[in-house]
Amino acid sequence: MLIQNVAIIGAGTMGNGIAHVFAQYGFAVTLVDVQDQQLEKAIQTIAKNLDRQVSKGSITEAIKTQTLQNITTVNTVATGVATADLVVEAATENSELKLKIFQQIDEAAPLAAILATNTSSISITKIAAATKRPDKVIGMHFMNPVPVMKLVEVINGYATTADTTHTIVELSKQLGKIPSVVNDYPGFIANKVLMPMINEAIYSLYEGIADIESIDTIMKLGMGHPMGPLQLADFIGLDICLSIMQVLYQGYGNPKYAPCPLLVNMVTAGKLGVKSGEGFYTYTPGSKAWVVSSNFNK
Ligand code: CAA
Repeated sequence: MLIQNVAIIGAGTMGNGIAHVFAQYGFAVTLVDVQDQQLEKAIQTIAKNLDRQVSKGSITEAIKTQTLQNITTVNTVATGVATADLVVEAATENSELKLKIFQQIDEAAPLAAILATNTSSISITKIAAATKRPDKVIGMHFMNPVPVMKLVEVINGYATTADTTHTIVELSKQLGKIPSVVNDYPGFIANKVLMPMINEAIYSLYEGIADIESIDTIMKLGMGHPMGPLQLADFIGLDICLSIMQVLYQGYGNPKYAPCPLLVNMVTAGKLGVKSGEGFYTYTPGSKAWVVSSNFNK
C-alpha cells in the first residue's frame, strides 16, 4: 500500500518527533492536537531540532524549510484523518483516552487507512478491538528522541494482517529507521526489558545499596549505556515508568514486576523527571547539567 498522507494524533514530545521524521522524509503530515497552544509549541520544537540538524550538517537549510512546509496543523481528529493513508496516534498514555480516540479515527479515516499507535505498553489487540478494522491496526513504537533513535518497534496485534505489518516495516525503513517486529504482550519487548532494569535501579537506591550518581555511573561506564537508568527514567518521565510497570505487573501477574515504592512516592509527589523540573535530578531550562535532586542529599 502506498503511504503519502500521514496524520499524527497528539503534538507532545513523541508526536512532534514523529511528525518531524515523516515530514523530513517527504510525507505530507497533518499534526492533530485539541490544544492550539500545544500545536504551536510542537512546530517551534520541530524547528529548533531541525536547526540542530542543520548546524551539525546532517541536513541542509532547504530540507529544513521543506520539512516545515510538509506539516499542517489542525485541532480536530475528524478533519485531521479525513484523507490519511496512515494515522499514527501518539496521545497521552491513557487506555480509556486511546480507545476513545481510536473510535473517532476509525469513523473518520478512509477505510483503507492503516491505524498505528505509538503506545509504549497498552495492548494493541485491545485498541484494535475498539475499531471496525482490527486487521489494519498495529503498534509503531518510536523511541525518544525520535529524530535520533534508529529503532521502530513494530507490534502485531492479534488480528493484524501480514500485509499491514509489511507496509509498516517498509515504511519504517523509508524513514531511515530499523524496524523490529514483535508480538502483542505486556510491555512488548522494549519496555518488558528496559523497565524492570530501571525499576531495579530505583530499588537499589531505595534499599540504600548505592547513591544516584554511583548507580548511573556504573551502568553508563560499565555497560556502555548513553544514560544511567535513573537519568533515563527522568528523561522518559517517572509517571510513564510507573504506568508501564503497572501494565507489566497486572499483565503477567508476577510479583517481580511490582513497582518500587520510591517510584510510586515520587510520582504521587509530582516529581516526574525532566518534564516537571525534578526527579532523581533537577533540571534548569537551557542547561544541560544534571544535578542530583536535593531530596536525595538530606
Ligand atoms: N532532535 C534532533 N536531534 C537531536 C535531538 C532531537 N530531539 N536530541 C538530540 N539530538 C542530536 C544532537 O544534535 C546530537 O547530534 P550529533 O550526534 O550529530 O552531534 C546527538 O543527537 C546527541 O545529542 P547531544 O549531544 O545533545 O546529547 P547526548 O550526546 O547527551 O545525547 C541522547 C542525547 C541522544 C538523548 C542520548 O543521551 C541517548 O541516546 N540517551 C538514551 C535515549 C534512550 O534510551 N531513549 C529511549 C527511551 S525509551 C522510549 O523512548 C520508549 C518508551 O516507551 C519509554
